[in-house]
Amino acid sequence: MKPIRHVINIQSFSRDEIDTILDRAAQLEPIAHGTTSDILSGRILATLFYEPSTRTRLSFDAAMKRLGGDVIDFGPTEGSSVAKGENLADTISVMGGYADAIVLRHPREGAARMASEFSSVPVINAGDGAGQHPTQTLLDLYTIRKESKLNKVKIALVGDLKYGRTVHSLAHALSMYSAEIYLVAPDELRMPDSIKTNLIESGIRITETKDLDDVVGVVDVLYITRIQKERFPDPGEYQMVACSYKITEDTLKNAKDDLIIMHPLPRVGEIDPGVDKSRHAVYFKQSFYGVPVRMAILSMVMG
Ligand code: NCD
Repeated sequence: MKPIRHVINIQSFSRDEIDTILDRAAQLEPIAHGTTSDILSGRILATLFYEPSTRTRLSFDAAMKRLGGDVIDFGPTEGSSVAKGENLADTISVMGGYADAIVLRHPREGAARMASEFSSVPVINAGDGAGQHPTQTLLDLYTIRKESKLNKVKIALVGDLKYGRTVHSLAHALSMYSAEIYLVAPDELRMPDSIKTNLIESGIRITETKDLDDVVGVVDVLYITRIQKERFPDPGEYQMVACSYKITEDTLKNAKDDLIIMHPLPRVGEIDPGVDKSRHAVYFKQSFYGVPVRMAILSMVMG
């Protein structure tokens, strides 16, 4: 029997494996634009979201259906046995009998790893608290590769670097591509030391600053994130950092011509809508790339 391939964190993939997934996503992209295929015909994906989601849930759904597969979704937790007190381990054990793979989003860091220990089918981490979001990272890498350049990219990660799971997994991945990383955050929301240590040990140059203006003119990619309001123990602390950064047309006056601006979305004020039409804005394309990249991931774990 082939071992189960779970997708829990990005470090469990080598650079070669990541490149293979991105190549596969590029092959599958025409299908994401509107054709269908039968690659996953007869397969069922279960989506379990214990936290809100728009793009991740629906792009997994679209990816599965474009590949000829089916999706079962347990809906809001209030409508499932979670409301009766069922624990995650039991829910996961049962899902293995209904589906060929499970996509799980959960507010607790480590939940996906724990779920994988109880699962008879592959578990794909769609975000575990402030931990990681590896499939977002794969689509982020795909976007950078397609819209800019990935190897030795100069990139600024901006905003909530403490609680933002997308930037945690992205930082780990960028260390495999010799990136030069600028970490832009208020003091309260700096990147955790464990991740910075990992970057430094991988030979990556990191620069920390609070000031977005310091980096706009030097980077190829500006990756801005939402302040993760739901992770703050105290609403007062959130208020103090809520509007730390906002990209406007004015912010970009010193930007390189080919700078790209990325955001995992949803945005809640970090990018002025006036920027949407500029040549720099790629965040809506980025969210579309979630479909081919998740097709590649699904075909890898179930194909
Ligand atoms: C992100 C998440 O859930 O971590 N959203 C997403 O999956 N595209 C980012 C966020 O919620 O801020």
